[in-house]
Amino acid sequence: MHENDLMNNIIHVHDKSFVPYLSEKEITAKVKALGEQINREYEGKKPLFIPILNGSFMFSSDLFKQITIEAEICFIKLASYKGTRSSGQIITAIGLDTDLKGRDIIIVEDIIDTGKTINQFLPQVYNQQPTSLKIAVLLHKPDATVFPVKIDYTCFTIPDKFVVGYGLDYNGLGRNLAQLYQLKDD
Ligand code: IMP
Ligand code: MG
Repeated sequence: MHENDLMNNIIHVHDKSFVPYLSEKEITAKVKALGEQINREYEGKKPLFIPILNGSFMFSSDLFKQITIEAEICFIKLASYKGTRSSGQIITAIGLDTDLKGRDIIIVEDIIDTGKTINQFLPQVYNQQPTSLKIAVLLHKPDATVFPVKIDYTCFTIPDKFVVGYGLDYNGLGRNLAQLYQLKDD
């Protein structure tokens, strides 16, 4: 590692370099504010948080710690596989073992990029007839969105640049970083 990199807190993940982007302090403040907002808006209800793994594990854990009203959490993982001929890509939710009918659902995602993943998953939630459905995301890249989705809670709106850390990975690495880093320009 170069001395310059150390000085500028540049990190390396696989073949790429990343620069510090959002600090732990900035993230903590936003997540705390979001938790407080949810506490107010869901007072007297018992929302069911559905974080989508792996990316949202850190965000959902920090967010859930801020929740002071009665609440439940059910982690799921989305697996996509090639469907038969015309159906194309199919998404299944692994671990969705709670009945969603009549529940107030809050889906928790790390990032909405193209919006494809969440768009494919939402019908499966609506099919179970929840009372309400909201989406909470840590990051939203509006410039990258191809499949529009109504996001109810966004911590940070960011440019269309790759980020790692705080649960998000680059080819499997970087999820353990306590803050967010952005891909460094060459
Ligand atoms: P979408 O379906 O295009 O909205 O993207 C969904 C998934 O792509 C996210 O849940 C992430 O796992 C991954 N992703 C998109 N952008 C980034 C990024 O900048 N860093 C790390 N993962 C990303
Ligand atoms: Mg994800």
